[in-house]
Amino acid sequence: MKNDNLVSFFLDAINFFGKDSFTTLDAVLAAKSLDFSSAEKYFSNGEYVYWNMRSFLLAGAKVGALSFKDGRFCAVDVTARKKEWLQEIVQLFKFQNQSNKTEVDTAAQERQKKKAEELWKNFQPLPNRRGFLLVNRNYPLPEDYAPESLVVVYFLRPHFLQISEDFKMNRVAYEAANEMFIAAAQENLSGFLLLSAFRGRKEQEKIFKSAVTGYAAMPGTSEHETGLAMDISAEIGDDTFFEDTPHFDWLLKNSWRYGFILRYPEGKEKFTGVFYEPNHFRFVGRAAAKEIFERGLSFEEYCAEKGD
Ligand code: DAL
Ligand code: ZN
Repeated sequence: MKNDNLVSFFLDAINFFGKDSFTTLDAVLAAKSLDFSSAEKYFSNGEYVYWNMRSFLLAGAKVGALSFKDGRFCAVDVTARKKEWLQEIVQLFKFQNQSNKTEVDTAAQERQKKKAEELWKNFQPLPNRRGFLLVNRNYPLPEDYAPESLVVVYFLRPHFLQISEDFKMNRVAYEAANEMFIAAAQENLSGFLLLSAFRGRKEQEKIFKSAVTGYAAMPGTSEHETGLAMDISAEIGDDTFFEDTPHFDWLLKNSWRYGFILRYPEGKEKFTGVFYEPNHFRFVGRAAAKEIFERGLSFEEYCAEKGD
């Protein structure tokens, strides 16, 4: 689907719902063609839905939820990221307004719940012998945790885009990430997209509630609360998964050089307690990242080993 059409559908949806009625909508798609400040204004929490929709797709669901400020939500066909998509939202919204019913794909929800239960049943907590800031369900952050040295991030334009101007990160992680994206740009790789960076406890709570079970970390157990993690995507076609892009490929091969690791790799779920997540990269420093990369470890396995 052409971006022009997409924009006109978003604008139609804005007209129909009123620009203040969304808490979530696919800001990534919107931001591709609208300027960022207006996308931000209309879709203040857009990254959640982008992320949610993707989680639903990965979970094999056909239907995702679109939330509205007043607490209602409607079902959306997430397998068809195309023109009919917004028409369907509008139809469902009209239907709900009339009947006051909420439509959800209960079978897909059930499947996802089972998958998450399986994930947690198989979780093998490992000790942290390295003293790194390891954050997971076994090592939650303290209640009064305060992240260190947060700075507002502003990555290289136009090679790198952020879906929000307000993202913050730990200063050291940000500087390393900046170096990384400059290096990618020098290799002619542009169009990275930052979906999420630092998230405070409250924000994580919101995400946790709205996300598909097993994809968002429980509040207090998310690395986003440290400012050391980024969710990265790319400006890609509507039907392309991030892991099928040259951007993902480049990050997989090179992010360790700048101290980053793919934090939730496929096949390591029993240690991480989180489903495979190609977008989430964590800063661990260059030496650790190098070893983790070379030995194909999860961060949990690395931290469980005795240090020097
Ligand atoms: N999606 C990762 C697990 C988080 O919420 O931190
Ligand atoms: Zn993340």
